[in-house]
Amino acid sequence: MVKTHRVLLPAVVLATTATAQTANRRPTLTETLHAHNDTLSTLNNYIQTQQSLFATINQTSDITILAPSNNALDGLLSNSAIMDDFNSDPELVEAFWNYHVLRGVWYTSNLTAGTGTGTSSLAKKRRRRRKKRDGNDVIDDSGIDGNSLFIPTLLSPDITPYANVSGGQRVIARSSYSSSSDSDSDGEPVVSFYSGTTGSGGSQKIIKSTITHANFNFSGGTIHIIDHLLSLPSRLNDTLASFGPSSNSSSSSTNENEDDSSSSGNNLSGLSLTASVGALSRANLTDLFNTQQDITMFVPSNEAWDRVGSVVSNIDEDELADIMGYHVLKVQGTTSGKVFYSDLLEGIGGTGTGSDSSSDGHVSVTGSEKEDGQEIEKDYETVEGGTVKVRVVDGSTSSKGDLTNSEDDDTNGSEKQVFVNGARVVKSDVLVENGVVHVVDG
Ligand SMILES: *[C@@H]1O[C@H](CO)[C@@H](O)[C@H](O)[C@H]1NC(C)=O
Ligand SMILES: *[C@@H]1O[C@H](CO)[C@@H](O)[C@H](O)[C@H]1NC(C)=O
Ligand SMILES: *[C@@H]1O[C@H](CO)[C@@H](O)[C@H](O)[C@H]1NC(C)=O
Ligand SMILES: *[C@@H]1O[C@H](CO)[C@@H](O)[C@H](O)[C@H]1NC(C)=O
Ligand SMILES: *[C@@H]1O[C@H](CO)[C@@H](O)[C@H](O)[C@H]1NC(C)=O
Ligand SMILES: *[C@@H]1O[C@H](CO)[C@@H](O)[C@H](O)[C@H]1NC(C)=O
Ligand SMILES: *[C@@H]1O[C@H](CO)[C@@H](O)[C@H](O)[C@H]1NC(C)=O
Ligand SMILES: *[C@@H]1O[C@H](CO)[C@@H](O)[C@H](O)[C@H]1NC(C)=O
Ligand SMILES: *[C@@H]1O[C@H](CO)[C@@H](O)[C@H](O)[C@H]1NC(C)=O
Ligand SMILES: *[C@@H]1O[C@H](CO)[C@@H](O)[C@H](O)[C@H]1NC(C)=O
Repeated sequence: MVKTHRVLLPAVVLATTATAQTANRRPTLTETLHAHNDTLSTLNNYIQTQQSLFATINQTSDITILAPSNNALDGLLSNSAIMDDFNSDPELVEAFWNYHVLRGVWYTSNLTAGTGTGTSSLAKKRRRRRKKRDGNDVIDDSGIDGNSLFIPTLLSPDITPYANVSGGQRVIARSSYSSSSDSDSDGEPVVSFYSGTTGSGGSQKIIKSTITHANFNFSGGTIHIIDHLLSLPSRLNDTLASFGPSSNSSSSSTNENEDDSSSSGNNLSGLSLTASVGALSRANLTDLFNTQQDITMFVPSNEAWDRVGSVVSNIDEDELADIMGYHVLKVQGTTSGKVFYSDLLEGIGGTGTGSDSSSDGHVSVTGSEKEDGQEIEKDYETVEGGTVKVRVVDGSTSSKGDLTNSEDDDTNGSEKQVFVNGARVVKSDVLVENGVVHVVDG
C-alpha cells in the first residue's frame, strides 16, 4: 500500500505542474524548436553556427517562422556552391533567414481564410470546375485567383541589399485542398508559400514550399514546418532573363537554393521574357529599374514584342525608354502597400500588413473608377507620365463576351482576368528583389 502510494504521488504532482506551466506561459523559441527535434534537428544544429543572427530573430515578437524540415535544409547544406556563397557573404545568409520569418502571427486558420478554400457555394463551384479540367486541384496558372496573401517578411531594405521592398519582401501564401481524386470531398486545406524563381532556359519555375506541420506556438508567435526552402527573389533583369526559351547556358548565381526536387514549383516553361531584358538594356534602364524601390512592372512576353517587332526596331533609345517607362507604375501609396501585387490590382488588397493597406489600391487611382459588379476599371500613373487603364473582369459572373463566356473557357483555373490597356496579364505576381512583375501578352 505504502509502496503504491509513493509511486503514484510524483506522477500526480508532475502532471499538475506541467498543466500549470503551459497555462502560464508559452515555451521559448528554442524550447519549441527542440521539442520538434525529430523533424528540425538539422535546423537546430545550424542555429548553433549562426547564434547572433538567430538571437536577433529570437528577440522579435509577433512573427511566424517557416522552419525548413531536415530534408529541406540538408539539400542546402550539402550544396557546396551555395555554401561557398553563404560563407563569403554574411548579408546573404541574413537575408535568406530573415525571409523565412513572416511579420505577424499567421496560424493556418489565418492562411486558409482566402476565398479559394472557403466553404461558400461559389468557392466550391470554382474548385469543382478546376478539378474537372485534369483531376488536379490546380491553384492557378495566371496567379489571379483571389486566393493569394502577400505576406511581408523581416527581409526589409535596411537589412541587406537583397531586397528593396518597403515593409519587407513578400512571400505569397495560397491554400488548396489535399484530396483531388474525389470531386465531392475536398480533404484538408493545405497551405503553400510561393517565393522567388529558380531555373532558367525553359525550366524556370516559382519555388513552392508547403506546410507539413503547423501551429507550433512559442512566446513570440508560431512556427510552421515547410518541406522546401524559400527562394530569395532575385534581381529584376536576372529574373526576366531566366524566363527564356530552352537554352544550354544557364547562370545559377542567383539561385541560392535551387535543387532537383522539380515537383516543387509551378511550371513556367513556355513563358519567355528575354526580349524585355534586351529592351531595358537598349533603353539604358536596366540599372534604374533593378534598383528602384517598390517596382511594379508589366513585362511584355517575347510574343508580344514579336508582334510589334518592326515598329520597335525603328525607334530610338529615348522612345524605347518612354515605352518601357509606360510599363512601370509610379510608386505611390502608403508605406505598407506601394507594390501592386494582384490583390491590390484586383481591389481586394489589405491582406499584407494591416488595416491601412486596404486603401492603397485607391491611392494610385488618378482617373475614373467604374464598378458594376463584373468589372472594375482603374487608371494608374506610370513612370513615363501617362496612365494605364487596369481592368479586372470577373469571369465567374460574366454571362457573355468572347473572353469569359463559358466554364470551358476557364482553362487557366482563374475566374478573374486582368487587362492592362487591353493586354491580358498572363502571369501575375512574379516576385523580384525590388517588387513584382506581371507578364502581359501585349
Ligand atoms: C536533435 O537530434 C540530433 C540528431 O538526432 C541530436 O544530435 C541533437 O543532440 C538533438 N538536439 C536536441 C536539442 O535534442
Ligand atoms: C532565445 O531567448 C531565450 C530567452 O528568452 C533563450 O533561452 C534562448 O537560448 C534564445 N535562443 C536563441 C536561439 O537565441
Ligand atoms: C489571425 O486570425 C485571428 C482570429 O481571427 C486574428 O485575431 C489575427 O489578427 C489574425 N492574424 C493575422 C496576422 O491576420
Ligand atoms: C497555437 O495557438 C493557436 C491560437 O491560440 C491555437 O489555435 C493552436 O491550437 C495552438 N497550437 C498548438 C499546437 O497547440
Ligand atoms: C550551347 O549553346 C551555344 C550557343 O549559345 C552553342 O554554340 C552550343 O553548341 C550549345 N551546346 C549544346 C550542347 O547544345
Ligand atoms: C511544363 O509545361 C510544358 C508546356 O507548357 C511541358 O512541355 C512540360 O512537359 C512541362 N514540364 C513539367 C515538368 O510539367
Ligand atoms: C545610362 O543611365 C545612367 C543613369 O542610370 C546614366 O548615368 C548614363 O549616362 C546613361 N548612359 C547613356 C549612354 O545614356
Ligand atoms: C542585370 O543587370 C546588372 C547590372 O545592374 C548586370 O550586371 C547583369 O549582367 C544583368 N543581367 C543580365 C542577365 O543581363
Ligand atoms: C533601393 O531603392 C532606393 C530607392 O529607389 C535606391 O536608392 C537604392 O539604391 C536601392 N537599393 C538597392 C540595394 O538596390
Ligand atoms: C490560358 O493560357 C493559355 C496560355 O498560357 C492561353 O493561350 C489561353 O488563352 C488562356 N485561357 C484563358 C481562358 O485565359
